[in-house]
Amino acid sequence: MTALLEVEGLTKRFGGVAAVDDCSFSVEAGTITALIGPNGSGKTTAFNMITGYLKQDSGTVRFDGGAVERARPAQLYRRGLSRTFQQARIFPELTAIENLVVAAGFSWRDLFGRRVSKRDEERARRMLDEFRLSHLADLPAGDLSYGQRKLLEFAAVLMSSPKLVLLDEPTAGVNPVMIDAMERHIRERNAAGVTFLIVEHDMQLVMRLCDPVIVLDQGAPIAFGPPAAIQTDERVLEAYLGG
Ligand SMILES: Nc1ncnc2c1ncn2[C@@H]1O[C@H](COP(=O)(O)OP(=O)(O)O)[C@@H](O)[C@H]1O
Ligand SMILES: [Mg+2]
Repeated sequence: MTALLEVEGLTKRFGGVAAVDDCSFSVEAGTITALIGPNGSGKTTAFNMITGYLKQDSGTVRFDGGAVERARPAQLYRRGLSRTFQQARIFPELTAIENLVVAAGFSWRDLFGRRVSKRDEERARRMLDEFRLSHLADLPAGDLSYGQRKLLEFAAVLMSSPKLVLLDEPTAGVNPVMIDAMERHIRERNAAGVTFLIVEHDMQLVMRLCDPVIVLDQGAPIAFGPPAAIQTDERVLEAYLGG
């Protein structure tokens, strides 16, 4: 197997506290890898550095064979690394379909200058269809429910034809029907070749969907392996119970 993402010695301090502390791990191509750990263990901070939203104090990130040094989120997005946020980030004033078109790489100017080709609009419509959001296509995205917004954000990320998708708590606050939909979409995309790194608190979902699992505690990995081994790992139990 080859590593699609390699994180080496990544460190970020806020004030005196190391949120991410000499953290190293890799994500193999083709996997659905979970990144779990107690609240405050540095998962989101790690995501922010990997995706160029936050500059690390030290350490390196390599994606798809290339360094991610000083890369901007938009550049990484074009290279095939995209993410969702703990709080879904969509453009509330654009319609659902417009959000997908913008995510495909068109600027607002293209959108409003009607320079979006029929083909790209068709692709956005198919994506909405796939996510069973077609009936909402022309509503402002801000009018969608919380769960629908999360699905829309996920659909938008897929418009860039990513190689690696980082999902930060995709099912938090989402109803069970939407969680099933999210899980199905992750599996389908993974079968089509997309690699996932997922921060998720729903352990049942992690255990049935993800392999391997990386466990962070206080900014660094304390365990790595298949879900069954993680479930019985003493250090992991301690980190969760002690935290
Ligand atoms: N912008 C920030 N400023 C100061 N402290 C932060 C900031 N972001 C995160 N932290 C701190 O860093 C630690 C890790 O946070 P975070 O990465 O959000 O953890 P997780 O996503 O695992 O819950 C926490 O102690 C948090 O309070
Ligand atoms: Mg977080």
